This record gives sequence, structure tokens and C-alpha cells, in this order.
Amino acid sequence: MTTKVVPGMLIAVPDAAAVAPEAASRIAKSLLEAIDAHGRASLALSGGSTPFPAYALLAQDARIDWSKVEFFFVDDRAVAPDHPRSNFRMTKATFFDPAKIASERVHRMRGEAGDLAAAARDYASTLGAHVRKSASGVPEFDVAIFGIGDDGHTASLFPGEPTIDVTDRFVVDVPAAGQREARLSITAPVIEQTRAAIILAAGKGKRDALERIWSTSGDVHHTPARLLREVRGSITWVIDKAAGGLG
Ligand code: 6PG
Repeated sequence: MTTKVVPGMLIAVPDAAAVAPEAASRIAKSLLEAIDAHGRASLALSGGSTPFPAYALLAQDARIDWSKVEFFFVDDRAVAPDHPRSNFRMTKATFFDPAKIASERVHRMRGEAGDLAAAARDYASTLGAHVRKSASGVPEFDVAIFGIGDDGHTASLFPGEPTIDVTDRFVVDVPAAGQREARLSITAPVIEQTRAAIILAAGKGKRDALERIWSTSGDVHHTPARLLREVRGSITWVIDKAAGGLG
């Protein structure tokens, strides 16, 4: 029996349908706090499938002055922005378009680039130009949304890959592996610098990964999402009972 410690706040919701409204509420709260404190907010978005219903609800939140929010991506797939697998495409459809977000405030990862390493460098420059930095120069997102892969990845930092150990760059290109396309992803230092991390997971397929993440001992190379434990800001887990093993 391993000891589990959930760093931060765990919000267990009854089912997957309940994740979106709870997540939208928590994201809105963190954005409003950041805008109140800094006059602006930076929001980094993950893709996958879990977060999109929350983005659709967030887009309708009339309390938020979206002209004060800059939008970034935690990761994206190495595909064109209109490709079905593009996180940008899905976020544009569920969030940016319904909320009428001005395109100049959306900073997209250029996953379609032929030279992904150059695209990673370019995105790191984008972060440098538009995101407040910590005292040590690391981009500091006010709010960032993370998902958890069934295999224990987060962002596009996958088990057994060296990208989890990259600390001298803020964005990396992640090579394709098996069926998985190449990716662009922010790195551990940027993830850890987040001021308000909101982590979404639903379904029993996430249970094993969350057990490994929440265990007081474990290897981040085996379970990269363990690095979410190191987030310097607030950590909020919005987890349904099937995923959290609390049901
Ligand atoms: C991606 C995501 C990735 C995602 C997890 C969970 O590009 O796929 O950014 O890190 O958050 O894979 O995905 P689900 O939400 O589909 O479970």
C-alpha cells in the first residue's frame, strides 16, 4: 500500500460531465485574480480531449475581460493548425471563436514547421516576449491547464523520454514515437513556474497514473506528470471519482 499525498487542492466531482463546469469556474477565478493583481493574465492551454468542454463554458463567462488575457499553448501536435489532431484547431473552435478572442492575443505553436527544433526556439522567444518572467528568467504563466495521459505524461513530456530532463530550454520538440506524432511542448521549468496550475482528469483510465503521481515516492521519468507536484504556485486537481479512485 503506497502512501498518497495530493499536493494542492483536490476537487472530486461525481463524473466526467461535472469536470467541465468545475474546471471553468476554477480557471475563471484564477484569471480574474491575475487580472486584478497584474492588470493582465497569461493563460496556457493543454489539448487532448478533457479540457474542451471546460473551454466552451469559459468562453461564455461574461465576467472576464478577454482583452486582458494572452493565450498560449502547453503543447501541440506537429500538424497543421486546421488538422483534426491540432490542439490549436480544437481550442479555436471551442474557445477562441465563441469568445471572439482577437487573433493577435493567441500565440500558437507552429507545429506545421518543417524544422520543429526551430519552431521550439521560436516559441520560446514568443514566451520571452509576452509572458512575465520569474526572478530566474523563467516564463511564469498566471494560469495553466494540464491534462494527464493514461501513461502518466503531461504536456507532451512522455515516460522514458529525455525531454523531461530538459532544463536549459523552455520549449522542446518531441520526436514521433510509434503512432504518436511529433510534438512541441513546454518544459519542466516552465511547468513548475506556473502561478495557478489546474489539472483535469476523468475516467478510470487515469486512475493508475494518478496513483503514481500522488504517491509520496516515484520516478518522474516513469511518470512525468509527477513534476506537477513541484508547481510553485497553486495546484488544483479537478478529478472525477472514476479517475481519483474516491468513488
Ligand atoms: C495533448 C495534451 C496532453 C493531454 C493528455 C490528456 O496534446 O494530448 O496536451 O498532455 O493533456 O494526453 O489527454 P485527455 O484529456 O485526452 O485525457
